[in-house]
Amino acid sequence: MKKILVQLKNSNYEIWTGRGSFGQVGKYLSKEPPGKAFILSDVRLKKQAKTLEAALRKLNWEFEIFFVYSSENIKSIDKVYAIYGKLLKANADRKTVMFALGGGVIGDVAGFVAGTYMRGIRWIGIPTTLLAQVDSSIGGKTGINHELGKNLIGVFHQPSQVLCDPLFLKSLPRREIISGLGEMIKYGLIFDRRLYLALKKSWKDILDLNPFITEKAIHSCLKWKAQVVVQDEKDRSGLREVLNFGHTLGHALEAETGYQYFRHGEAVLLGMRAASYLSVLSGHLNETVYEEIEGFLGSLPVPAIPKSVQASHLMRRLKWDKKAVNGTVRFVLLKGIGRTVLDRNVSPANIIESIHKIGVREL
Ligand SMILES: NC(=O)c1ccc[n+]([C@@H]2O[C@H](COP(=O)([O-])OP(=O)(O)OC[C@H]3O[C@@H](n4cnc5c(N)ncnc54)[C@H](O)[C@@H]3O)[C@@H](O)[C@H]2O)c1
Ligand SMILES: [Zn+2]
Repeated sequence: MKKILVQLKNSNYEIWTGRGSFGQVGKYLSKEPPGKAFILSDVRLKKQAKTLEAALRKLNWEFEIFFVYSSENIKSIDKVYAIYGKLLKANADRKTVMFALGGGVIGDVAGFVAGTYMRGIRWIGIPTTLLAQVDSSIGGKTGINHELGKNLIGVFHQPSQVLCDPLFLKSLPRREIISGLGEMIKYGLIFDRRLYLALKKSWKDILDLNPFITEKAIHSCLKWKAQVVVQDEKDRSGLREVLNFGHTLGHALEAETGYQYFRHGEAVLLGMRAASYLSVLSGHLNETVYEEIEGFLGSLPVPAIPKSVQASHLMRRLKWDKKAVNGTVRFVLLKGIGRTVLDRNVSPANIIESIHKIGVREL
């Protein structure tokens, strides 16, 4: 097993990665003082949850488990309220530990509940999708959606341990693997040319879950994410903002298609293609490098953008983006593979042109 230590101002935590780490979950939990646990998980993971239940029993922890039908819809204030109710009825106290066993949705909800229940209880992340393993399970961003936008209500609440076991990915639909791959390629494009080239060469091996390649790539991504989080825990210095590459338009595409059509990483892949072109139009990126990126990203299997999506609608959505400051959208753009620039003066005409470039037409 490999360990990544996230050293923050007020807390430290370990991320464990490796095949079979979940099978040894008891070993990791024995470091925690025994107590009460509340597990939030996904009905699709009932079988896998038994391993955690058995480990907790062996360590004499008291626990309750709550399974939900995980979907973006559960990132809602109503669901969170219902979970507070479950916790209160189970007499959960400030020492209770919340477990998030599931994908990014479960992690965001469980982390948010843990961050707010009795002003904050500890939580342990056990991410089961590729996207959650390389991205959402670490960094402490937790939250839910509002009808006016995604992830608009939330708190920073760091987990006290994260366990990333690639064996979970065996039951994951291929589309979810592509979605996770989108975030992995993002780390390559913004930070690490070698990682980008490795992913370009071996993305099909990751799709087939080649154990060595997949594990190595997950570990590289986690190291990047951990490094950024350590330097800019609360997303204040601008460093963490680079992780938003491809997300400005990606979020707009997700919102415009009602969050049901694209997987998050698919929308990010499209957003990164548009942002790469925008990097050329804004004078930061050389066209040859753009063609290289487009050649790879454009070859990945991502659903076509529905014809009903219009550039003007996407433009309107950009104003709702969390990253918009005083109505001006800031774009993370590329200077090269592995190098970014934050551009506050992107021209609307160029944004529209880059949206057209990924196949969005006006009706
Ligand atoms: N907090 C953050 O920093 C952060 C970062 C990125 C994304 N997110 C959030 O993460 C969410 C997306 O996460 P996701 O892509 O993991 O999606 P998800 O949690 O919806 O999971 C995707 C699907 O896979 C299923 N699933 C989960 N694990 C499985 C397994 N091992 N085998 C089979 N099926 C499994 C789920 O039931 C679901 O249908 C979004 O809500 C996004 O906003 C948060
Ligand atoms: Zn993302």
